Amino acid sequence: MAQSITLNVNGKERTVQADEQSMLLYALRDNLGLHGPKFGCGLSECGACTVLMDGKAVHSCVTPLSAVRGRKIVTLEGLGGGSELHPLQQAFIDEQAAQCGYCLNGVIMTAKAFLDTHPHPTRDQIKQALDGTLCRCGTHMRMVRAIERASRHESTQEGQA
Ligand code: FES
Ligand code: FES
Repeated sequence: MAQSITLNVNGKERTVQADEQSMLLYALRDNLGLHGPKFGCGLSECGACTVLMDGKAVHSCVTPLSAVRGRKIVTLEGLGGGSELHPLQQAFIDEQAAQCGYCLNGVIMTAKAFLDTHPHPTRDQIKQALDGTLCRCGTHMRMVRAIERASRHESTQEGQA
C-alpha cells in the first residue's frame, strides 16, 4: 500500500508516495527523476543500479524502501559539487572509459565506495572491486585506468591538505 516515505537523497530530505516494500531504484528513477541509477537485471547481478547507502555501495534494485529509512543515499547525481565533476567522473572522461555508458553508473558508484576505503589501490584490487559490475561493451581496462587516475588525483589532494 502506498504511503508517504521520507528519504535522504543527495543531502536533501525527499518524500515519495510508495509501498515500503517497493525497491529504492524505482523511487529514485520514477518518483524523484534521478536517472543515474539504471535498471539492468533487477536481480542484484549486474551493478547498473548501484547507489551509496551510508557510504556503502548497494544494489538499489533489491533494496526495499523499508531498509532505507534513516539512511543517507547518494546517487551519481550527488557526486561532485554543483557544476564541478567528481575526480572519478573526470577520470572516466579523460580515459574515454565508456562505449554505450549503460554500466557507468554502477562502475563509478562502486569505485567511489571502494576508493573511499582504499585510497591507494593496486590494479588487482581495483579489478576485484569491479567484479560485481558487468560491462557488455568490454571497456574494463579503460575503466581500471580511470580509477587508477582518480586515485592519483585523490593522493595529490591529500598531499596538498
Ligand atoms: S539492476 Fe540492480 S544489480 Fe542489475
Ligand atoms: S560501456 Fe556499454 S555496458 Fe559498459
